[in-house]
Amino acid sequence: MRRRLAAGNWKMHGLADSLTEIAELSAAHPDPACDILICPPATLIHRAADLTLGSSVAIGAQDCHAGASGAHTGDISACMLRDAGATAVILGHSERRADHGETDAAIRAKARAALEAGLLPVICLGETLAQRDAGDTLGILSAQLALSLPDEARDHPIVIAYEPVWAIGSGLTPDPAQIGEVHAHIRAELSARFGRDMAQATRILYGGSVKPANAAAIFAARDVDGALVGGASLTSADFSPIIAALCAAG
Ligand code: PGA
Repeated sequence: MRRRLAAGNWKMHGLADSLTEIAELSAAHPDPACDILICPPATLIHRAADLTLGSSVAIGAQDCHAGASGAHTGDISACMLRDAGATAVILGHSERRADHGETDAAIRAKARAALEAGLLPVICLGETLAQRDAGDTLGILSAQLALSLPDEARDHPIVIAYEPVWAIGSGLTPDPAQIGEVHAHIRAELSARFGRDMAQATRILYGGSVKPANAAAIFAARDVDGALVGGASLTSADFSPIIAALCAAG
């Protein structure tokens, strides 16, 4: 069975004093029935990884370069993240697609680099409001899946995060039935390309305005294996009840 995953994406938030939130989180969930991942800004990865060593909380990054090393000022490679103590990396978040023009092909190359470095890629997909209103959601997701997943995903664990662009940071979410429809579609696409075993083993997270108040309803939706949480992952007070809801679900 798939072990559920509660992943926190801190985005460009957090200074050294935020590490206390991670310490509180691991103290509050010493033996959870689901996996917990926090992706702080790159500046905190090393300290967060030291802090959580041997605990229930894993530490991840929010992006990586597709190369292992080289003349790329300001970039960070997957093996550097691994060296700093990260075990996972978010890739293809819609904010990076928008702010940095990341294409599906670039995300595929980064995912391959992450797998080579031994990181678990959390690959983000999602439609805009205009695409949803035009009835294009499933087609857009199929295209993003086809182009942003490397063939290596057949033999190495990956995580998919379905994040409707219009739901991120907006307080809006699709209703649970719509989330379930999309997740079932994603799993069917994975099965068609990589086979049933891979599709059944792959965790598909929902992301976009997950809060303590709506978490249980979202986690009850079909084929939802966890959440990628932005704003509500920044404090242990908000993220803890989301983790509890996930661990209690199905
Ligand atoms: P949000 O962000 O939970 O603040 O909507 C989710 C994300 O962007 O991963």
